[in-house]
Amino acid sequence: MRLIFLGPPGCGKGTQAQRIISDYRIPQISTGDLLRQAVRDKTALGKEAKKFMDRGELVPDEVVVGMVKERLLANDCKGGFLLDGFPRTVAQAEALDRTLQKMKLKLNAVVSIEVPDPEVVKRLAGRRTCPKCQAMYHVIFNPAQNQNVCDKCGSELYQRDDDQEDTIQARLEVYHRQTAPLIEYYQKQGLVKPVTGMGSIDEIYGRIRQALGDRAG
Ligand code: AP5
Ligand code: MG
Ligand code: ZN
Repeated sequence: MRLIFLGPPGCGKGTQAQRIISDYRIPQISTGDLLRQAVRDKTALGKEAKKFMDRGELVPDEVVVGMVKERLLANDCKGGFLLDGFPRTVAQAEALDRTLQKMKLKLNAVVSIEVPDPEVVKRLAGRRTCPKCQAMYHVIFNPAQNQNVCDKCGSELYQRDDDQEDTIQARLEVYHRQTAPLIEYYQKQGLVKPVTGMGSIDEIYGRIRQALGDRAG
């Protein structure tokens, strides 16, 4: 299965990805996670990317396209993959199309997770993330059993630098301007599966599985 998760910040891409990758046994390729790792490792790329991320803007296309191309060549992508947060611009989508064509691969579906802006703000303001296993929590909607400790791996949870009110607004604007046009781009390829991103995490997961022609297992 070769999938894309498309949707505004905080729509639940990362949360739902965790279940997809365990049920379909495919890797999650999150450009946001890869970039945050580069920031933590203080690489040249990480230092450059941080400037854009802290403002809620997109990192330049050539940087993320290069990262994804390299990642797609890894052995664990042979049986499929889930792209989370990539592509985010038409130029990125075109680059991905060219790469997949060269690899003689086709996408199966683009899951478009729909959540209104005010809900995004609520979700991101209370999000806590595990830096080690990428598990996602929310102080009210999905709290960890032990306040600031990951249920799955015991690491200390943290709040992302870009989950501040101003930056959340900037990310939303960037989404509507630069990323939302991809829905139409992929509609033309007949790949879009719209899914309502409101409701419980389980309900939404069921909708995604149904949209993929599967029943949640
Ligand atoms: P990225 O890391 O991709 O962030 P994003 O797209 O803004 O999305 P998020 O990760 O914030 O949200 P999510 O949809 O994964 O939601 P989550 O599951 O965590 O990108 C960050 C930055 O990196 C960008 O701004 C850009 O600078 C750069 N970047 C990344 N990719 C790039 C690219 N391709 N090109 C250029 N730049 C790029 O859920 C959110 C919260 O809601 C959690 O607390 C969760 O517990 C809670 N929640 C989840 N589901 C529900 C529910 N059903 N009900 C209630 N709460 C819920
Ligand atoms: Mg995410
Ligand atoms: Zn963890």
